[in-house]
Amino acid sequence: ITSPSPPERPAETMTAPALQTDDRPLTFPSGFVWGAATASYQIEGAARDDGRGPSIWDTFSRRPGAVAGGHTGDVACDHYHRFRDDVRLMAGLGLGAYRFSVAWPRVQPDGSGPVNPRGLGFYDRLVDALLEAGVTPYATLYHWDLPQALEDRGGWTARDTALRFADYAEAVHRRLGDRVGTWTTINEPWVAAYLGHAAGIHAPGRTSAADAFRAAHHLLLGHGLAVRRLRAAGAGQISLTLNLAPVVAGAAEPDADAADLVDAMLNRQFLDPVLRGEYPGRVLAAAARHGGLDHVHGDDLPVVSEPIDSLGINYYNPTRVAASPGAPPHPAYPGSEGVAFPPAEPPLTAMGWPIAPGGLGDLLVRLSRDYPGTPLVVTENGAAFDDVPGADGRVRDPARIAYLDGHLRAAHAALAAGADLRGYLVWSLLDNFEWAEGYAKRFGIVYVDFADQRRLPKDSALWFRDVIARNGIGG
Ligand code: NOJ
Repeated sequence: ITSPSPPERPAETMTAPALQTDDRPLTFPSGFVWGAATASYQIEGAARDDGRGPSIWDTFSRRPGAVAGGHTGDVACDHYHRFRDDVRLMAGLGLGAYRFSVAWPRVQPDGSGPVNPRGLGFYDRLVDALLEAGVTPYATLYHWDLPQALEDRGGWTARDTALRFADYAEAVHRRLGDRVGTWTTINEPWVAAYLGHAAGIHAPGRTSAADAFRAAHHLLLGHGLAVRRLRAAGAGQISLTLNLAPVVAGAAEPDADAADLVDAMLNRQFLDPVLRGEYPGRVLAAAARHGGLDHVHGDDLPVVSEPIDSLGINYYNPTRVAASPGAPPHPAYPGSEGVAFPPAEPPLTAMGWPIAPGGLGDLLVRLSRDYPGTPLVVTENGAAFDDVPGADGRVRDPARIAYLDGHLRAAHAALAAGADLRGYLVWSLLDNFEWAEGYAKRFGIVYVDFADQRRLPKDSALWFRDVIARNGIGG
């Protein structure tokens, strides 16, 4: 998720690299990693099994009106009980890597203190099954399911949560680190902070700009503290995954200034502290106006900027803005008075998000230029469409294939332009619990019938299998 109504400008007006419009076969560099991603609360279900404690999403999804259809993650894809079948599916597609997340409330039901060995046991079995199937496990430590007990003590607005996160990260590594070589600390801190604490459309559902700025900093601090612990414990590859998007606007000065502000909030607020050890001035100024900066301690930034081995990028669409004097601030962008977010223009996915593959190319080129030396991995890219199985049981999803094909072509062009891209993971392996949208929005390359939990690989899954097999597209 990049923003509640993230608009775009058409791909052909993007600057670099030019989107390829032909259907030439393209080959990716040897060793390029192909995979798929999921997250614990979105697929596992088994919300009370083996001592799992409640998370903020268990609480939030029960709040009337918070999630479409009143859906919860109680059962989800029942992956907790079906993971062996799901790993078989992954192996059948030839996935090189599978990115999953560990549910903190399974490991520490109260968010701190002794670990729950039965909760960790699930990930132990999952990792073994993946390795047996020849699929490399990529573990994400936090994909939004904070233990409710920590939320009751202030959640991410409290500095203590960052410290607890580092303990938890170390505990997970202690159990899985002999077999998991690739670690991501936090998934999409912007979404967790701003959709969760300012816009209130994600758990924990707060609507305070001051809380959001504090949460953003503590998420970054938790990341840095965890990097230190993981590094000391000998973890292999350590990364952070950000939701990033080009922010596009007209060239006139007020529009460019609006784009710069939103870029600072959405992208540089996370990139700069982690990769340069400093916050952008515009973010500090906005935070100072919303509750102050006393939560940023003098020696935090060296922690936040502990070196990482790669940066994960979740890309879905660009964000378009325009100057609009007198416009109220966007709920997810505190400090964005005078900035308009025009409605998205077609073509759109079922989420109402614009399809603009060139945005991915722009982003990858920009990152390699502005933050050189950090290898990049697309840890999520994909689209929701209203998939329906045919009478023959086949799920025809040409729009998803076109979406993925377009984005891979843009990624390939970015590679040719010098971007240091190492891998591409599709979101998602399975249709799953799409947060505030519930189960109605289907991102999977594998269809899930939530009535009987049947899995049906969509045409896009078979297409992706061929992409992986030939390490490229077309031809
Ligand atoms: C990014 C998030 O990490 C993932 O959980 C979500 O389902 C996708 N975006 C699609 O919105």
